This record gives sequence, C-alpha cells and structure tokens, in this order.
Amino acid sequence: MCGIVGFTGKSNAAPFLLDGLSRLEYRGYDSAGIALLNNGEIKTEKTVGRIKSLIDKTENGKTVDGFLGIGHTRWATHGAPSVENAHPHTSTNGKFAVVHNGIIENYLSIKEKLKSEGVIFSSQTDTEVIPHLLNKYYDGDLALTVKKVIDLLEGSFALGIICSDYPDTLVAAKKFSPLIVGISKECNIIASDVTAIASTTKDIIYLEDGEFAILTPNSADFFGNDGKKIDKEISKITWDVSASEKGGFDHFMMKEIFEQPNAVKQTLSGRIKSGEVVFEGFNLTAEKVKNIKRIVIIACGSAYHAGIVGKYVIEDMTRIPCEVDLASEFRYRNPIIDENTLTIVISQSGETADTLAALNEAKRLGSHTVSIVNVVGSSIAKASDDVIYTLAGPEIAVATTKGYSTQIAVMYLFSAWLSKKLGSLSDEEIAAFLENVKALPQKIEETLKQNEFLSEIAKNQINTNSLFFIGRNIDYAVSLEASLKLKEISYIHSEAYSAGELKHGTISLIEEGKTVIALACFERLSDKLLSNIKEVKARGAYVITCTTNGNDTFNQESNEMIYVPDVDRRLIASVEVIPFQIYSYYVSLHKGCDIDKPRNLAKSVTVE
Ligand code: AGP
Repeated sequence: MCGIVGFTGKSNAAPFLLDGLSRLEYRGYDSAGIALLNNGEIKTEKTVGRIKSLIDKTENGKTVDGFLGIGHTRWATHGAPSVENAHPHTSTNGKFAVVHNGIIENYLSIKEKLKSEGVIFSSQTDTEVIPHLLNKYYDGDLALTVKKVIDLLEGSFALGIICSDYPDTLVAAKKFSPLIVGISKECNIIASDVTAIASTTKDIIYLEDGEFAILTPNSADFFGNDGKKIDKEISKITWDVSASEKGGFDHFMMKEIFEQPNAVKQTLSGRIKSGEVVFEGFNLTAEKVKNIKRIVIIACGSAYHAGIVGKYVIEDMTRIPCEVDLASEFRYRNPIIDENTLTIVISQSGETADTLAALNEAKRLGSHTVSIVNVVGSSIAKASDDVIYTLAGPEIAVATTKGYSTQIAVMYLFSAWLSKKLGSLSDEEIAAFLENVKALPQKIEETLKQNEFLSEIAKNQINTNSLFFIGRNIDYAVSLEASLKLKEISYIHSEAYSAGELKHGTISLIEEGKTVIALACFERLSDKLLSNIKEVKARGAYVITCTTNGNDTFNQESNEMIYVPDVDRRLIASVEVIPFQIYSYYVSLHKGCDIDKPRNLAKSVTVE
C-alpha cells in the first residue's frame, strides 16, 4: 500500500507535499518522490528509502519550485524499490505526471499495446501506463482525457495527476483505494488519509469509487462515474493534529499503547445506556437477528486475532455458532454463506484489500454484514450494511495496539447487544457483564505500570531466534496476538500454540533454554496449564507465565511471572494483551529495530 498527496495553492507546494508524505510514511516507505509544475515544466525528484532521503535531496523542498505538485511514498508491488520505479511517473514528453496507490490489474495488456505504438517505458511498474495513456488520449481537455483514461483501467487506484498545460490544476481520481480532498482558502489538497491533511485544513471531502475531482487554488469541482458534475458534502476532521504526533513518546507504538485506556473509553462511550447496548443507526433488526443461524467473522492479522476473542465471547453469550476466517482464505473457498448468516468484518484501516473483497463476497451471497472499523468513511465502512466504529483515533504505528484493543471492546458490546435481542441472557446478566466492560479502561490503566520489569525480561530475548506462546481458550487467542506483535517488530520468530496441542508433535522443538511464554488466566484450566508448563520445563524450557494478580499456582514452575488484573474472564484479553505489547516493544527496542515502521510491512495492505 502507498501514500499519495497533491497540492494546488497560492504558495509553494513542496512544504505540504514533504510534510504530507512524512505523515503517510507508515503506509509504505521503500521509495518516494514529488513532481511540481513551474513555468510550464514539470520537475520530478525521486529517491529510494525513507522520506528523509527526499527531504535531503530537495533541501527540504528548496530545489523544487511551484504552486502545483504531487507526491508519493511507495510500498512496492510491481518492480523492486528503485528510483526508476518510484512515483511520480511521467509521460515521455513530460506533459503528465501521476502518483498512484493501488494495482492496475490490466496494465500488462495496456503496456504491450502502448509499446507496439512506440512508447518507451522507464519502469517495471503498473502505474507508468497511466501518464502514457493520458498523453495518448489528450485532446486539450484535461477532465475529459482523465475520464477516458480511468475508464480503461481495471483494478484499484487513487490517483493524483498534473498536466503542464494546466498550471494550477490538480486532478484526483478514486476507485477502491482511499483518497480524500482537503478544502481551504489558501489551497486545495489531496491525500490517502486524513493524517496528511489535518495540519492544513479540517474541511475534507471523501471521494467515492468512480468519482474524480478537478481542483485549482480557488475551485473544487467533482464528477461522478458518468462524468457529470456532482455536489459533495464537506466533512470535518474532529481530532487535532497532535493526535497524530508522538506526544512525548519515543515511538508512536508506545504512545498508542498508553492511549488504550482512553481509546477503549471513547469506543464504549455513549453505547451503554441503562444496562444495555445502543448502536446508532443500526440496520440489523431484532427480527433479522432471530433468523441468524451462524456468525462468520472475517479479518486479517491482528484484526483476525480480535475476531477469535470475539468468537469465544459471542458463543458464550449468544449460543450461536461462530467461526472466524482469514479473509484471504474465505474469499477463495466457495464459502457457505446465506441470508441466515451474520458476517462480521474487522479492520482498523478499513482498506485491507482481502477483507474488503471477502466482505463483498459475503454480501453477494446474501449475508447481512457488520463491519468494525477505525477509519471513518473507509472503503470497508462504506461497503458494509452496518458499521460500528472503534473510536481509537489515528493509529500510526504499523503494529496495531489500540486498534486491536478497541476491536475487542466492540466485540464485547456486540455480544451483549446480540444476547439482548436473542434473549439468550437475562437483563441482569447483561447489565452485570456491561458493568465489567465499563471498568476495563481502569483495568487497562493498571496493566500499564510494568514497563521497567518488562523491559528487563525483554533483554533476555535479544539473541533468541525463536520462542513459543501457549494458552487455552481466550488465553490462546491472546497468545496469537502476542506472538504476532513480537514477530512483526523484533523480527524474532515465535509461534502461538494451543497449550493442549503442544504434546502432539511440536514439543519436539523444546530444548534447553527455549523460551516458552504461558498465558494462564483461566483458573478452571490451571491444572492443565501447569501440566503443560511442567512438560516444557522438563525439557529445559525458560518459562514466563502470565496470570491474574494473587494467583501463585505457577510461581514454582516459572522463571518469571507477569500479573494482570482480575477481570471477568470473558474480558481477559483486554488486560492480558497489554504486557505482551510492551514486552514486544522492548525486545524490539533492545534489538535496535525500527519499531514504528518494521521492515517489509505497511500499515494497511490495500493490495492482495
Ligand atoms: C497488526 O499489527 C499488523 N499490522 C497487521 O496484521 C494488521 O492487523 C492487518 O494487516 C489487518 O489490518 P486492518 O486491521 O487495517 O485490516
């Protein structure tokens, strides 16, 4: 996934372009570039590596003049990270420059046709066909040419386009990749998400699929799929720029770990009234709920792990069968979905390509779809029948923390809401459950006081090449998320394993000094967990055990103990995940890894 920006205004474009790309760098950061139009000529500067290389090369924008420009930070899909493959891409005669986020699925056939017509390509990217097409069809009318070209493109795109014949005109077009327009008296801008816009203006307009915009410093015109002019509503960004800054922390990830109590509190606020859950504007009626025979939860990565927590809670409270599926598997499995299936889709970014495609497949098969999303107006939010927003605020670190915590908080709310509609629990049971949910921000706050201890034990792992997390029930669901956190930011291989399954083969990997982290918060399963811990200890494992405050069942068999507050066991994931977010952070820090932008990753994977 990539980040794009564009600017047309009454001052130099470079400062906004470079600042905007810096704020979008979490979306992809293997190369970057900007193109500005000045005195009838488009000048392009591109570098490999982080935005800083581009800032250095352009002396913080001083070497590139112009009040009109576009910029791009790349996460390579077609063609390795290189200057040639970095965006913006230009037509051979330099008349058009284009930045693109998405994938042009029919680019090969277009490229072959253009090459047969004598066009010389300078990159391996899919994107480069776009400026050449613009040049091929250009008849002097920019808007008409853009419409003609985007109608030829299959796949996904968010585009920023400039043309040397139009000294102040910025064109934006959207299909399946996010693109937002920022409106102000001084300039009109575009960006892949609001974090790049908020410091310039709070007035934004979301482009819908098939729409495009023609922007100048004093005008903003929007056109629909049919090429006809349309009116668009202006929305307001509600959070301030500081929300997307580090706020005194060394990394966005630690800032967002510490934001979790408030993020969960915001997500719960206004949704628990008189002992029951209220979702504004929900289309899922009590009548439809009564016909639900099965629930399917679909997501990727940490959102998938949040779905597994949700499965345990939903089944416990509603007694409706609930399965959790990886979006990339679901969509190619000829899934068994019908109008009696409720589909829940979870996504922090709301732009994950596999998750969006799985959502559309479930809808096509007749299922009512509810999405749990953090980004207002995102593609998944707009495509689902109902959306429950996690109000976590912008999450910048690639490794999600508050995104995950607010997703599971919404799962608790939704489980209670379903239970009420189904009558599977009494009003008193639901009210008591929700009282425990409301107490979670405080309980999470309590778990944030272990940094020093966790940093100390994290030091033991910096030379580890692999370790295990084991657990049962929701402890197992949390171990999946704990394992992913460690892998993605410290590059140490780890595996989450159902504690009861270890002895069926994988225990052969346990040897002297191998670290095994046991998640053991379910008293009724303590004996089983203790046996599993003894099994690995007997084979030389170094055991770290996490359990609830005051539980001394595991002290003797464990090398280290991590304690979390005692909460309703259905909610244990909300407190149990915290120490492992912090632990992974410190392992990564001690190893000197890039915590907020781990290698090979992007914040939202908007390609398959
Ligand atoms: C989580 O730390 C990872 N960055 C990744 O697994 C992420 O959860 C996954 O790509 C899904 O993203 P989404 O929630 O934006 O759909």
